[in-house]
Amino acid sequence: MRILVTVALLTLFCVPAMAQEANYDEAKVPAFTPADPLVCADGKHVNTIKEWERKRRPELLGLLAEQEYGRTPKGRVKTSYELVQENPQALGGLATSQQVMLTFKGQGQERKALLIAFIPNQRKGRVPVFIGYNFMGNHSITSDSTILYSPYFEQIADKESPVLKRGIQSSRWPLEDIVRRGYAVVTMCYQDIFPDRADGTSESIIPLFPENQDGDSRWQALGAWAWGSSRIADWVQRQPWANARQLAIIGHSRQGKAALWAGAQDERFQVVISNNSGCGGAALSKRAYGETVGRITRSFPHWFCPAFSRYAENEQTLPFDQHELLALIAPRRLYVASAEEDRWADPRGEFLAAQATAPVYALYGLKGIESIDMPPVHQPIQNQVAYHIRAGKHDVTDYDWQQYMDFCDKAFEK
Ligand code: GCU
Repeated sequence: MRILVTVALLTLFCVPAMAQEANYDEAKVPAFTPADPLVCADGKHVNTIKEWERKRRPELLGLLAEQEYGRTPKGRVKTSYELVQENPQALGGLATSQQVMLTFKGQGQERKALLIAFIPNQRKGRVPVFIGYNFMGNHSITSDSTILYSPYFEQIADKESPVLKRGIQSSRWPLEDIVRRGYAVVTMCYQDIFPDRADGTSESIIPLFPENQDGDSRWQALGAWAWGSSRIADWVQRQPWANARQLAIIGHSRQGKAALWAGAQDERFQVVISNNSGCGGAALSKRAYGETVGRITRSFPHWFCPAFSRYAENEQTLPFDQHELLALIAPRRLYVASAEEDRWADPRGEFLAAQATAPVYALYGLKGIESIDMPPVHQPIQNQVAYHIRAGKHDVTDYDWQQYMDFCDKAFEK
């Protein structure tokens, strides 16, 4: 088990070597214009909100499930939530933290996942909530030693292992700032839902369901992670401190892909934030710039449903592109963010996809992104759809969080 955990964690860091063969030459990007998301598979153009919601939106959801992320089971597994620890003086007294164990049961099996919530102590009424997975365990987001290890990390026998060090990803979680601005944060380790490795399925939540275990459209890791975010939202919605109508889902990189898919399916997420999500997330696949469908499906065969690999080195035949995933967020707020040095994730492809959702937002009388010219670094565009590109590498930084909070302030009229 220890070896598997280490191998899985290494996949988080071994990417730059693989990036070498990717195309980084804009001149080699195939000429195409993203398809109008309002045009259906039968060639008909939908012109009203009703037609979009009854015909085109379900058609796109179906296509994305069948061909990219796999079909989410309709059946439910039994889920229970147990408060295992509460600290009214977390973050130096700024917040109350609650650690809650989720137990999923189905098909005679059981899985556990641990969430942690930071709730602002200074609050008047219910607060808006950021929901998002962490990569390296709940213990990695701050050095607070009262934080329990996420079940995935709890199994590591060597307590001196570097992956058990506290606070190693705290720069990605400016918890004090977020709480000071009046937001709660709820996070959980994504590995608790599906261990991120090619043979992770058997230890994931997937075997707890009777359906969608086989075939080309079977759901895999991204589908499972998206499903898990909705189980976090189920809990949040019931909390007396939470404003259930003000939920923002945030995800970085592979978690950005999962957040977009969660946001497309679960309309409780009023704001959906994709941070550097790249291929299979916000970036247009048909540009084949940076990471491609071929690269991603070979490197991470457990993320997408098997059908997606048909489009490896064959992106032009895809019956959709990622802007149509983004368009499913409409009329809710969408934020897509890139980093200048993160060419692997194709910042231009992320921008163009966010921009290409405009016709769907326009149907609702809302402003998406108007210009097809990318804004300069550090000049966010924030309409109902938002975009920024910041300096630096693939990461989540304070700058990113400041923009997300500004955007949510507007969305939630704070
Ligand atoms: C790799 C992978 C990306 C992914 C990223 C991450 O770079 O190729 O698709 O977004 O890991 O999750 O950090």
